[in-house]
Amino acid sequence: MPSTPLSAELFNGHLAAVAISALNELGFLDELDRAGSLHLPSWVERNKLHAMTVDSLMEVMALYEIVTHSSDGTTRPGKHFADILRAKGYFTWLTSGYGRLFQKLSSTVPLAGRTPGFIDRDGRSIALGGKDYGRQFVDEQFDHVLRMRDFKVVADLGCGSAERLIGMVSRYSAEGIGVDVNAGAIELAAKGIQDAGLEHRIGLVLGDLRTLEPSPRLDRVDLLTSFFNGHDLWPREACLAVLERLKQVFRNVTRFLLCDTYRAEPFTSISGVPIFTLGFHVTHAVMGQYIPTREEWLELLKEAGWQCNGIHEIGIPYSAIFDLSPVRTSGGS
Ligand SMILES: C[S@@+](CC[C@H](N)C(=O)[O-])C[C@H]1O[C@@H](n2cnc3c(N)ncnc32)[C@H](O)[C@@H]1O
Repeated sequence: MPSTPLSAELFNGHLAAVAISALNELGFLDELDRAGSLHLPSWVERNKLHAMTVDSLMEVMALYEIVTHSSDGTTRPGKHFADILRAKGYFTWLTSGYGRLFQKLSSTVPLAGRTPGFIDRDGRSIALGGKDYGRQFVDEQFDHVLRMRDFKVVADLGCGSAERLIGMVSRYSAEGIGVDVNAGAIELAAKGIQDAGLEHRIGLVLGDLRTLEPSPRLDRVDLLTSFFNGHDLWPREACLAVLERLKQVFRNVTRFLLCDTYRAEPFTSISGVPIFTLGFHVTHAVMGQYIPTREEWLELLKEAGWQCNGIHEIGIPYSAIFDLSPVRTSGGS
């Protein structure tokens, strides 16, 4: 059989990526995982779906051996199903989260096109994708690192929906404070906290880490966490100022778990490039957001007076938890 030329491989791979996202968002992948097999026509009818579209997406999925499909309509996991199931959040992040940006990619390159609001992305899909791959590749490892030391009050910086903060507070009978600069995120976090019945143990601060002021409330915090917002604080000088400020604002913090994706060293060949990394590099480049390398992080943390007591790589490629403690001089911070 002739080998597939690169052009066809890329074209077909793109279709497989959108098929995975769509079927993930329709709940198909989770349902097939739970049930072990699904009668496709019944699933389509039950969910009031367009049969021709589903059949066509399923043809792509079967060709990539993600599912198997028999003539009686039964669909089963194929040999790559488990891999795709675990990684499905990355596909939603890429194709649904950044799909609109990619559609207009060429118009974002000329400097004249980079006017306010030119970044058109779908925050909900980015959050949903992130939640999924976070659950698969972050939470268990983070919990393992967190358990190494006791804490009473945790402040989560750039808390987003506060899902992780809610998890920490409920699992460790601790108290929590979520800080985020985005009013929409704070609103979402407030709802999540209310739904979890944790209003009495978790407070929220709508504020910018770059200008946060000390307060008696923040003095009670002994643990800081930050998930995937560290790179938002770069460029270097700006991030240095925030890291130094955090020591002054959170005067009694003894530990800071900073979890983020860092820049991979330049690749020399496509073989061995993992999932997510190139997507993370490209999207952040388009947005003009610098991504520091692991070494740049370590150098900056040291300069800012945060001692690194351990680096724990997590399941997301080129991502780690930096386990830090503040270096305090006898004169104060
Ligand atoms: C990629 S999201 C991560 C959200 C959450 N930590 C998670 O892991 O799901 C980054 C969050 O950091 C927040 N953020 C970015 N810059 C910030 C700043 N200067 N001060 C406070 N929050 C900030 C954003 O609003 C956003 O909610």
